Amino acid sequence: MKSTSFSVALFGLGLCATQFVSASVIDDGHSLHRRDASILIDPDAQPSLPSIGAATAAASTLGLNLTNIQGDILIGMKKNKELFFFFGITNAAKFKSALKSVILPRITSTTQLVDVSKQPQTALNIAFSQTGLNALNITDDLGDTAFTQGQFANAANLNDPGTANWVPQFAGTSIHGVLLFASDTLAKCESDLTAIQLALAKCACVKELYRLEGAARPGSQQGHEHFGFLDGISNPAVQGFQTPLPGQAVVPPGEILVGETGDTVTTRPTWAKDGSFLAFRQLKQLVPEFNKFLTDNPIRTANLTRQQGSDLLGARMVGRWKSGAPVFLSPTVDNPKLGADPSKNNDFTYAAPGETVADPTDQTKCPFSAHIRKTRPRADLGLPESSSSNHHIVRGGIPYGPEVSASEAKSNKTKTERGLAFVGYQSNILTGFQFLQRFWANNPNFVHGGVGFDPIIGANKGAPRIVNGLDPTNSTRGITIMTDFIVSRGGEYFFSPSISALATKFST
Ligand code: HEM
Ligand SMILES: *[C@@H]1O[C@H](CO)[C@@H](O)[C@H](O)[C@H]1NC(C)=O
Ligand SMILES: *[C@@H]1O[C@H](CO)[C@@H](O)[C@H](O)[C@H]1NC(C)=O
Ligand SMILES: *[C@@H]1O[C@H](CO)[C@@H](O)[C@H](O)[C@H]1NC(C)=O
Ligand SMILES: *[C@@H]1O[C@H](CO)[C@@H](O)[C@H](O)[C@H]1NC(C)=O
Repeated sequence: MKSTSFSVALFGLGLCATQFVSASVIDDGHSLHRRDASILIDPDAQPSLPSIGAATAAASTLGLNLTNIQGDILIGMKKNKELFFFFGITNAAKFKSALKSVILPRITSTTQLVDVSKQPQTALNIAFSQTGLNALNITDDLGDTAFTQGQFANAANLNDPGTANWVPQFAGTSIHGVLLFASDTLAKCESDLTAIQLALAKCACVKELYRLEGAARPGSQQGHEHFGFLDGISNPAVQGFQTPLPGQAVVPPGEILVGETGDTVTTRPTWAKDGSFLAFRQLKQLVPEFNKFLTDNPIRTANLTRQQGSDLLGARMVGRWKSGAPVFLSPTVDNPKLGADPSKNNDFTYAAPGETVADPTDQTKCPFSAHIRKTRPRADLGLPESSSSNHHIVRGGIPYGPEVSASEAKSNKTKTERGLAFVGYQSNILTGFQFLQRFWANNPNFVHGGVGFDPIIGANKGAPRIVNGLDPTNSTRGITIMTDFIVSRGGEYFFSPSISALATKFST
């Protein structure tokens, strides 16, 4: 665990170590008070968040107001525990007044979340669907057709095998909004929700439709998704917030934040500035089934044991080893030291050193179909990346569901649902999440003809998926994956407004 922000916070408060050890947390429910340890996780391999000083300096050069931006948008996959509370609005006028008096004072900004000493016990964000805006009589066109339609009406674009597997509450347009609670324990998330529900009970203006709890996986698996691979390594560095690490994509703030430099849509209402679209997906992962597939189809080369061949297959499907080490830099065996080093584990382009385009025929080091290559092709589209791709999102999801039990592992069958509560932020869903899913992961001819589906998230309406290039010894050998290891349970598209918009448009 990295401890930089910890010591910064300690000195910032002028506490000595003894006082720190004996300090007890004063929990006044929600209001601002000092913390001594972050509510976020910070695995070694993930880029750390900028210090508050660095973030403020970066923001001032671009005129970005980090205090106006809801805290979840830019921080990536660093939540420890999270509770998603999906609701319907039953009385618009009363909801607006409750938003102002009950919810807004608890909303956590980016500034607060980055500064450990200013973090609340539980961070709170809020976002609204199009039908939620309608319910509040907010009629401006936000300029995003996927958002306007909602995920259910727009589901065909994602190649889900219909919506029969969807959580029923997502199969429709009844969800008006979502509250996102994040903390270091689920008990704190739940007690904040209870406090809000108690306060809202007086107005009878909100009804619960669905909730989902997520948690970083335990122990050494912290930061890893349920298949076992370290996640949250490669998020773009947003100008005005972070300084890029080697290999990190650099994006203008407007690729993530509406109305900022780089947002290509010019017709939005001014109050939408500093908001971001949140694409939510509940993606169930069939972990024992995935593991059986790896066991049954090891890559066979002279120098690898059967187990190593299975591990290599999994790594080539993702594009990274479980440690986070990219297969492009470590093509046959995992390299945990490389995986753990954020200054090295993202420093590659798929091109040879000095070249600006990747070899369109060579996938010995990394298949074209690998999940991270499909969703960020780097030099496959030519460098610099900024001129060839504006399809970046900030991924801010969290695993949900229990660890695989011994009996599930033995039976090769999932018995209890687990997966990824996927959250992706962008200023344009059609060029962000939906583009990655639809035109890249689901497209067997991206990035070159016949390379096949993304074997992790690629969807073919439930039909078998051909994936090429997985076998480094024979690039023309295709593997047909008969079942999906990720099953969509649906989701919704939301807009996460700026804090000033919440204080005006949404509450008066
Ligand atoms: C259960 C579903 C998913 C799993 C298990 C999964 C897993 C992973 C893993 C292990 C990584 C490597 C860590 C990293 O580079 O940060 C990764 C990266 C990434 N994933 Fe996913 N992912 C899932 C869903 C999605 C979806 C739905 C999208 C978008 C449509 C997506 C987009 C990306 C992107 C953009 C990257 C970073 C690529 C790069 O910058 O090199 N993922 N994912
Ligand atoms: C930044 O945003 C906050 C929250 O909306 C607001 O109170 C503050 O006045 C803004 N600062 C500037 C300089 O605009
Ligand atoms: C909705 O907003 C419009 C203009 O913003 C206003 O004329 C109308 O009265 C509002 N309707 C309701 C039901 O509040
Ligand atoms: C689970 O899959 C493994 C690998 O194919 C196999 O050896 C084992 O017999 C399977 N177990 C059951 C209960 O089907
Ligand atoms: C490569 O795979 C193709 C398709 O499965 C097969 O026809 C060919 O014989 C393989 N080549 C080698 C050298 O194994």
